[in-house]
Formats: sequence, structure tokens, C-alpha cells
Amino acid sequence: MIFDTHAHYDDDAFDDDRDELLKSLRTEGIGNVVNIGSDVESSEATVHLAEKYPFVYGAVGVHPSSTGQLDEEGYMRLEELAKAPKIVAIGEIGLDYYWDEPERDKQQYWFRRQLGLARQLGLPVVIHSRDAARDTWEIMKDENAEQAGGVIHCFSYGKEMAREYLSMGFYLGIGGVLTFKNAKKLVETVSYAPLERLVLETDCPYLAPVPYRGKRNSSLYLPYVVEVLAHIKGKTCEEIVEITEQNARALYRLDEKEK
Ligand code: NI
Repeated sequence: MIFDTHAHYDDDAFDDDRDELLKSLRTEGIGNVVNIGSDVESSEATVHLAEKYPFVYGAVGVHPSSTGQLDEEGYMRLEELAKAPKIVAIGEIGLDYYWDEPERDKQQYWFRRQLGLARQLGLPVVIHSRDAARDTWEIMKDENAEQAGGVIHCFSYGKEMAREYLSMGFYLGIGGVLTFKNAKKLVETVSYAPLERLVLETDCPYLAPVPYRGKRNSSLYLPYVVEVLAHIKGKTCEEIVEITEQNARALYRLDEKEK
């Protein structure tokens, strides 16, 4: 079944129909979802969602753009939340120089701290990196992120950077952007990267694939991404679903977790 490795079902966009939508996923071919925290509050919400729905796992972390509000108290709360039974990663964490706030020093400081937390707890990381390819990679190198492992979510860089992150053992998260008309660079990267290192993600409610571009996204639209990926890789949709599901389970170490 389809594995959505990156979703934000705690978002307000789902307030009207969250329960109904989540309960409908399985009959629509969606097996597991990992809900991703973007600040301390949404990390709390993520723990609750994972407690409530058997097929939902979670990641807790503070998105670079939200690190302006992070402090020691918040960090300690994250550490506590990360120990909840169905939390499988630290994220999303990283650098965002597109929005470019808070100041880069602050983003980098909390990126390093959260990478350290992942290493300390033996959890993989979910990386958000936008317009910051080189700095992200250098901090990851410096903090021995290869020991934690993880995924570069919504991968948006070219082949060169893909090679660097793949050589560090990371997976690349692929979502709705792949279906966009202007996705030429991403299509090239995806053709280049081994299928065994790609995972599916929505980043919902954002980044809905064509033909729903601009609308609220959900895991239900992942088949549109699967179709494009199957075309690029010369595989059937069934093969893409099966292989990316195995990849996602390996990324989040679910087989160890479920033992
Ligand atoms: Ni996200």
C-alpha cells in the first residue's frame, strides 16, 4: 500500500473533516502515514494523532522557520515527546534561506541541536532544506548525520546535491512537485536516483499534485505522483507503490519498531 512519509494532518486545513479523511485512507490504498511536527505545538498534536490512529506514526521537531520561538524549555519538551512509542523520527528540521528568517545563525544553531537529539535517541531525521543546499549538507557532515540517517524531504536540488545526500545514506522525499509542468530539474534528479532510495510524501495540506495543484492536498492524491514516477522509472504503478513502501519502512525502521 502507499506510504505517505510526510504529512501535516494536525494542520487547521483538516479541522472540518480530519477524522473522516484519516479513516477513509485505508480503503483508498493508503497504508501508513507519518505526521511531521513543525513546532513544539504541532509535535504535541503529532503524538496525539499517532496515539489515536494505528496506521499513523510521527516525527517531532521544529521547522527552521519556527526556530525563532524555540528555547531550552521547548527543546526539553521535544526530547520528552520524541520518546513516545510511535515517534519514529526527529523532524522536520533544517535550513530555509528562501524565507530567510529567523536569522541564519539561529536556524543553524537549532538545526545542530536537533541533529544531536536524533543521534542521542537513535532516531532518523526528516530534513527541510530550501535554497540552502550547501550549508545543510555541511552541517549534516559536521554533525555526523549519516549516523542518524533519514530523508531529505521535498527534494528540490539537482543531481549533484542528490549524489552528495545519497552518498550520506539519505533517502529523497518525492511528492506533488514531480507532477508540475516546471519540474524538469526534479525529473532529471529522480531519473538519476536509484528507486531504492526514493520515498513518497505529500507535505499535505501543501503541494497538491496536478490536477489538484493549488488545492488542499492529502494522501489520497498520491496515486498521481505514483503514476508520474512509474513513467520516469519504467515500472508499473504497483511496483512503485511496493518498492517505495519498503523504502519508507526501512527509512523509519518500522520493522525494528514493530518487533
Ligand atoms: Ni512539511
